[in-house]
Amino acid sequence: MRTPLIAGNWKMNGSAERVRAFGEAFARAEFAAAVDIAVIPPFPYLEAARSAFSATPLALGAQTLNPHPAGAHTGEVNAAMLVEFGVSYVLVGHSERRQHYGETDEGVYQRVCAALDAGLVPVLCVGEVLEERQAGATREVVLGQVAAVMQRLEPGQRERLVIAYEPVWAIGTGLTATPAEAQTTMGEIRAYLATLDRSLGDTLRLLYGGSMKASNAAELLAQPDIDGGLVGGASLQVDDFFAICQSAG
Ligand code: 13P
Repeated sequence: MRTPLIAGNWKMNGSAERVRAFGEAFARAEFAAAVDIAVIPPFPYLEAARSAFSATPLALGAQTLNPHPAGAHTGEVNAAMLVEFGVSYVLVGHSERRQHYGETDEGVYQRVCAALDAGLVPVLCVGEVLEERQAGATREVVLGQVAAVMQRLEPGQRERLVIAYEPVWAIGTGLTATPAEAQTTMGEIRAYLATLDRSLGDTLRLLYGGSMKASNAAELLAQPDIDGGLVGGASLQVDDFFAICQSAG
């Protein structure tokens, strides 16, 4: 039985006030079933969020990390710093990082290793762009991104990841993969994982991301291989995010 995980990626949005509002709203949160919830604010809010979320079920995530342990990397943040600030999850290879900030498959692998070494849960983000989907290359692209990391990890490391499938054309566009489209690709990811290790296919959590919102979350989460969501825009409003969490819990 995989406990659902709903993670809200605030991207470069948020404020101290929003952190406070989430802490207040989720302090009263009750869910019908078990659900893990994470909020992933920009780095400067991590400390405030740790304190504001201390009496809530909200875990803390970060949006990326630098794979090096320390040193001359101006503007970067390492895994140990995230741990020191109470972070549990870290996004790795988000499409915005791959497209605009040079996160390659090799860099993604290095980041996953750094996160695992520090005891963080890497959320490995994968997904095809529109041209790749239209060319019929979705499976090849997505499994290629998954394999670029998974093949190089030891079995004991692989089981500590979460994988987020985010079709790039569905991110921030209002276009959502239909539940059937998302299920097809996520079923392929799970089938691939099972070829590495049968139990990995059964236990790893797969999240869907791309215009998930309160009105479509339940239908997406009802798919057999969708174990949660990585939510962007709809994670910024506490009521919307709360409603999505309720769809899962
Ligand atoms: P949206 O939910 O805004 O489409 O963003 C998805 C995403 O990129 C989450 O990481």
